[in-house]
Amino acid sequence: MKKVTLSTLLKKKQSQEKITALTAYDASFAKLFDEQGIDVMLIGDSLGMVLNGQDDTLAVTTDDIAYHTKSVRSGTNRAFVIADMPFMSYSTPQTSYQNAAKLMAAGASMVKVEGDEWLADTIAGLRQRGVPVCGHLGLTPQSVHVFGGFKVQGRSDSAAEKLLASAKALEQAGIQMLVLECVPTELGKRVTQALSIPVIGIGAGVHTDGQILVMHDMFGVSANYMPKFSKNYLVETGDLRKAVMQYIEDVHKGQFPGPEHSFE
Ligand code: KIV
Ligand code: NA
Repeated sequence: MKKVTLSTLLKKKQSQEKITALTAYDASFAKLFDEQGIDVMLIGDSLGMVLNGQDDTLAVTTDDIAYHTKSVRSGTNRAFVIADMPFMSYSTPQTSYQNAAKLMAAGASMVKVEGDEWLADTIAGLRQRGVPVCGHLGLTPQSVHVFGGFKVQGRSDSAAEKLLASAKALEQAGIQMLVLECVPTELGKRVTQALSIPVIGIGAGVHTDGQILVMHDMFGVSANYMPKFSKNYLVETGDLRKAVMQYIEDVHKGQFPGPEHSFE
């Protein structure tokens, strides 16, 4: 099986073939997702919520992510593996190098950071040192206490323009992929068209280059709460593998997310 690389994902964007992604935290599910043909697996700091049952992602450490990255890497043959950099693990460029090194050594092929223009030096520095970086804009959960809750971002015209400018600035700084979370469908479309790198959406409408879901949400087994933008594929299919197959098919056909999973 040919491994998915950043070149593979870039070609998919260029040929308008949708990219499919899920979070993964262990080898067994990573293997199951990999075998069904999921392109990208993210070891998300969402593990603080879905594995540890906390209210937010703030207590997750780099060692936590590294531990789960090792497991996911063991179960993966084909998919591209991204590891989240947790809260405060990239507060300065220097800090980010030390922590990104741990995640790459654990088996990640890219790291993901949440934030806008303030990250430019960090992104450029990581890339120069051999670490590909994925950005994350919109609802960035590590800033939940700044936002005053998990809220849709970029709703006003000025907020939308600001987010679009940030996305361009991050691409300029060197990110090679972008996760866009919880923004109106129209803004998801504008950002996707404005960038030449793949844009993976979650709650960002149907027009992004790909979709990602938290695996526990996709199976309808999350400990706390199910976001509006997610869909329980297990209840429709009654089988883990079929649920993943259906998710992939729906994303490929542009049938997920529907309007009921999107923000207008
Ligand atoms: O932590 C996570 O699972 C994420 C995805 C929701 C994109 O960052
Ligand atoms: Na995350």
